[in-house]
Amino acid sequence: MEVRINDTYEEMSAAAAEFVIRQLRHKPNSVIGLAAGGTPCLLYQLLGDACAAGEVDFAQVRTFSLDEYIGLGADHPQSYRYFMEKRLFSRVNLAAAHIAAPDGMAADIAAECARYGAAIEAAGGIDLMILGIGPNAHIGFNEPGPCFVPDTHVVELSEATRTANARFFARPEDTPHWAISMGVRDIMLAQNILLLSSGAGKTEALYQAVCGDITPEAPASVLQLHRNALVLADRAAASRLPEKYV
Ligand code: F6R
Repeated sequence: MEVRINDTYEEMSAAAAEFVIRQLRHKPNSVIGLAAGGTPCLLYQLLGDACAAGEVDFAQVRTFSLDEYIGLGADHPQSYRYFMEKRLFSRVNLAAAHIAAPDGMAADIAAECARYGAAIEAAGGIDLMILGIGPNAHIGFNEPGPCFVPDTHVVELSEATRTANARFFARPEDTPHWAISMGVRDIMLAQNILLLSSGAGKTEALYQAVCGDITPEAPASVLQLHRNALVLADRAAASRLPEKYV
């Protein structure tokens, strides 16, 4: 695991955009896994800007969203599919047929999880997985627990995660209780992983991810075992990391 610290959120996002653009130039038909949430917003904006400026081409890129709330459709403003449409897909030249996301409205959620995992595999796996990290060190919606769940699965969101994500909903009680998430194996099979972490609210989670024991109680800690995991953090998130990183 490599860790790079930037002074600010803006610098971290610019470094992330540069990393993604380099990946797409190196492999124009890359398969990318995409986190939603607050952290990657500026990264996606910068990718949109770079595409508009002709600096990067998404024509052959394929994407897989990391997760989705159960019960929210693609047209629901708080669904992750809607988020990705607004923040990235509508701003780059990505083919509609190259966009994949778990269907939170599927009638048979277990079958949907199996379908989604198989679709990732059929695409040849993920070349670059873009992750955020929850304040409880979750990645995707792999919540802290007694074991890692390998495959795409249904998750009951923890109260910590519901509280953290309530800011996106009109009323806190609207925050869904359930989600579909790629599993830890889906994530760890990616060729490259880029984890973004910003702000003081992530300090403890980032410490656990980088320096803590590798344990499903801090799911991001598993990334220490990945061959090509890059952590980009701003100074606020990195404030507990040991001297050698800062
Ligand atoms: C979202 C996702 C989550 C978020 C995490 C951090 O698709 O998979 O793991 O990355 O909850 O969210 P923010 O960036 O809003 O702090």
